[in-house]
Amino acid sequence: MNDTLRCHILITGATGGIGGALARLLARPDTRLSFVARDAARLQRLVDALAGFAYSATAISADLGDPDSAALIAAEARRRHGPIDILVNNAAVNGFGHLEDLAPREIQRVFATNLMAPVLLTRAVVPEMIARKRGQIVNIGSIFGSIGFAGFSAYSSGKFALRGFSEALRRELDGSGVAVTYVAPRYTKTALNSPAVNDMALATGMAMDEPADVARQIVAAIESRRAELVIGRAERVFVRLNALWPKLVDRGLVRTTRRIREIVKPAA
Ligand SMILES: NC(=O)c1ccc[n+]([C@@H]2O[C@H](COP(=O)([O-])OP(=O)(O)OC[C@H]3O[C@@H](n4cnc5c(N)ncnc54)[C@H](OP(=O)(O)O)[C@@H]3O)[C@@H](O)[C@H]2O)c1
Repeated sequence: MNDTLRCHILITGATGGIGGALARLLARPDTRLSFVARDAARLQRLVDALAGFAYSATAISADLGDPDSAALIAAEARRRHGPIDILVNNAAVNGFGHLEDLAPREIQRVFATNLMAPVLLTRAVVPEMIARKRGQIVNIGSIFGSIGFAGFSAYSSGKFALRGFSEALRRELDGSGVAVTYVAPRYTKTALNSPAVNDMALATGMAMDEPADVARQIVAAIESRRAELVIGRAERVFVRLNALWPKLVDRGLVRTTRRIREIVKPAA
């Protein structure tokens, strides 16, 4: 780990699969960590589990779905550890199913957690980064933020928007000293994926990563202040193909879409 990471890092969704692996990698001497998630007991277990390392950590229990939470989280993290140097917008929820089967509240929850929370949290921390001429916003997206998949209309569109937000913000902050990094993992073995999503991934032969491997790649992207990283060689090609020839990808996904349809709505 290089010296750029010896600072105050705020990680949302720190108790999850990828967030937990990130927290373990970043728990080093001189690193001040602020962890955010809803479940206070799980947050405290994470802090306790990492207590053997010479670093300081704060657990902030908050619901990112609440638009007022961003300012409160930023204020609490700042109070405990000083200005935030790196914000990792990692928390997200899934929302697998056909659009007509998703309740309006569920759709709202997906956009509030996966898109609005990163935007509002960034807004809460970026002024002091600009003033200090240093900092980094790290948005954890998804391969589904570049390729729209059947069964993931809410999740995919939220991640597309998060990627657009990252690109626009990167250009807006150019020359300010504040970097913006967007990382798109592919399928990763975590609790984000329901049994139905696991079935879909297995049935369609998706590559599956361990959270620790994904976290290592995120850390490398942060250290190099990389603008964008899509995890997986085949996925990088697929993303480019989809941008250039979406109709080709439509055809390539016909079998996958059929399989997803069967998993979402098994024949009666
Ligand atoms: N797993 C994959 O296959 C995969 C693939 C591509 C991209 N990603 C992306 O990677 C990131 C991490 O995903 P993961 O797989 O590690 O997810 P995960 O294991 O399900 O963890 C999600 C984390 O977010 C927190 N969280 C969820 N809703 C929240 C809310 N309203 N307020 C505060 N915290 C909330 C959860 O804690 P609480 O429940 O306690 O709040 C948990 O710490 C996400 O952005 C995801 O979209 C994952």
